[in-house]
Amino acid sequence: MEKSPFGILTPISADAACCSGANDAEITNAQLDSITAAVQHQYGALATNAAVRATDGSIVKATDKFYSDEQRSVLPDEAAGASAGCGNPVGIADALPGETVLDLGSGGGIDCFLAAKEVGPGGHVIGIDMTPRMIELAQKNAASLGTENVVFKLGHIESIPQPDNTVDLVISNCVIALSEQKDRVFSEIHRILKPGGRFVISDMVTSHALPADVQASATEWVACVGGAAVMSEYLEMVNDAGFGNVDVIKSVPSYPDSDDWRSLMINLTLRAFKPAS
Ligand SMILES: C[S@@+](CC[C@H](N)C(=O)[O-])C[C@H]1O[C@@H](n2cnc3c(N)ncnc32)[C@H](O)[C@@H]1O
Repeated sequence: MEKSPFGILTPISADAACCSGANDAEITNAQLDSITAAVQHQYGALATNAAVRATDGSIVKATDKFYSDEQRSVLPDEAAGASAGCGNPVGIADALPGETVLDLGSGGGIDCFLAAKEVGPGGHVIGIDMTPRMIELAQKNAASLGTENVVFKLGHIESIPQPDNTVDLVISNCVIALSEQKDRVFSEIHRILKPGGRFVISDMVTSHALPADVQASATEWVACVGGAAVMSEYLEMVNDAGFGNVDVIKSVPSYPDSDDWRSLMINLTLRAFKPAS
């Protein structure tokens, strides 16, 4: 068995930042033996609680912070209830009619449903998520919307179940920070994009390295914080994967009023292109 990537484990507490409300199930140290298990536990609980979260006005959801009223009005309540992003990549990605869009870490399907409207009946949207309960929720939401151009697939973003050179646009909202193998994720994105294709990604990064205890905290990791890369290293991974025309669209402090390590956190939105030849 692989050694725990967290080192000495700090059990998950009830106030994880990225997706507060998802931590109400007990988690054992055995489950924390891998990041994958911890992340699946966190987001499985979020999927289960999506309906309750949707109707609880005291919970501030990602849709409240990052999405327009017009975008929210076309989403099923449970997709909004499960929303856990840190930006609005689909809002600026300009998906075109007929395009194929793939969403990495699609959660309750929120960005897939918005992209599906843009690509229209001649286009396709594929949502990938490794948490079975999230895939089930997204499929239920798709059925309630009657969407016919979206499919959800169980899979890992480090090994995307999609053939080479088949996607026009990759989107992702607050997911790559949860991966231990970010370089592999970017090389997978490059593999599946058609030549000239692009990605638009929102994610959590940092201005400088986080304290070691924060990086080793399961609570902070599943909140998209502990695993966040230093932004310069993140951009280097994008370049190393072969992307060009890299454009930092947005880079804002996540906790502008903080004077501790949280002041290092940045909400990033990035666009880049796979060269046409
Ligand atoms: C913070 S949530 C964001 C969900 C969605 N993008 C949104 O904006 O609401 C992260 C999602 O990514 C999924 N995820 C995390 N790591 C993953 C990985 N390595 N492969 C596939 N899915 C992953 C989780 O299961 C969860 O649904």
